[in-house]
Amino acid sequence: MRIAVGSDHAGFSLKKEVLKHLEERDIQFEDFGAFSEESCDYPDFALKVAEEVAGKRFELGILVCGTGIGISIAANKVPGIRAALCGDTFSAHACREHNDANILALGARVVGTGVALDIVDSFLNTRFEGNRHQKRIDKISEIEKKYNK
Ligand code: RB5
Repeated sequence: MRIAVGSDHAGFSLKKEVLKHLEERDIQFEDFGAFSEESCDYPDFALKVAEEVAGKRFELGILVCGTGIGISIAANKVPGIRAALCGDTFSAHACREHNDANILALGARVVGTGVALDIVDSFLNTRFEGNRHQKRIDKISEIEKKYNK
C-alpha cells in the first residue's frame, strides 16, 4: 500500500506526526508538501494528492489542514476522489467500508495527535465492503459525469 500525503501550513506539524507513524508501521508514502509552516494555500496540496490518487499512482491519500474542511472540499473536486473529513475512528472505518473513501482529511486544529493517529489506523486498516454500497458509489460517479462534460 502506498499513501500520498499532503498538508498546508496549518496541517504541517500534524502531517509530520502522521509521516512518522507511517514510517513506524512500514507503510510506504510520499510527501507532496507543504514542507514548512510558511503560509500557503490548501487547494494546491489537495490537487497534488488528489491527482496522484485519482491517477492510481497511490492507493490512498491523507490530507491535513487547519480544520480539514478546505482541503477535503478541494480534493473532492477531482473526479474519482472521495475525500472524507474524519474527527473520530468510527467515521474513519465507516468511510472506507461504506463510501470507499480514498482520501482521509484531518483537521490539525480540531483533533489531537493521538486521536488523529488512531483515525489514520482505522482508515488504513479497513476495506470497502462493496455489495449494496457499490451502487451508491456508482451513483456518485454518475453525478460527476453529469457535471464534468
Ligand atoms: C489556514 O489558516 C486554514 O484556513 C486552513 O488550514 C483550513 O483550515 C481551511 O479549511
